[in-house]
Amino acid sequence: MSIRLGDIAPNFTAKTTEGTIDFHEWLGESWGMLFSHPADFTPVCTTELGKTALLKGEFEAKGVKVIAVSVDDLDSHNKWVPDIEEINGVTMNFPIIADEDRKVATLYDMIHPNASEKATVRSVFIIGPDKKVKLTLTYPASTGRNFHELLRVIDSLQLTANYSVATPADWQDGDKVIVVPAISTEDAIKKFPKGIDEVRPYLRYTPQPNK
Ligand code: BEZ
Repeated sequence: MSIRLGDIAPNFTAKTTEGTIDFHEWLGESWGMLFSHPADFTPVCTTELGKTALLKGEFEAKGVKVIAVSVDDLDSHNKWVPDIEEINGVTMNFPIIADEDRKVATLYDMIHPNASEKATVRSVFIIGPDKKVKLTLTYPASTGRNFHELLRVIDSLQLTANYSVATPADWQDGDKVIVVPAISTEDAIKKFPKGIDEVRPYLRYTPQPNK
């Protein structure tokens, strides 16, 4: 069954390169990013895991725990990790789930049979501290993800979770934001003391409230 925004992220127990975890316990009060990889010892995945290890500090600074999954076993993951480290000049610093029985891949609908019967697609699930799914992304095996975009999206998800704003196209942290349509311009003027720029009655900008 597919997972939709607002659903509780399904819980599971799994072996990982950092020991056995209960997913919800592992998340604790943090945000989380669960992302799938078609298979171990594949070129795009090797670059993606290396990039994530490089950016781990940036995810952590936003309170986001990252965890990868692929449908290979722990022995295979442990043999692959030195390659990821050497090729990308990093130390692996987050867990990779060993999902050889495809439990997690099935639970999260990460196998799209018309793309591949065996391997997962590149799925991303960003999960809030309430364990609800805040964002899903699906890329094909042949296209590596942009991890700076994932960090950007997390900025937007965290901002819009706390303020009655939305973020416009190509928004970056620090740019002006949009007042949500549910708030009248009269109320917006009181709520956002940095000011309102009313381009249209339905398009009102305000400086980012938490900056
Ligand atoms: C990869 O992960 O590198 C990959 C997997 C399947 C097709 C192409 C690339």
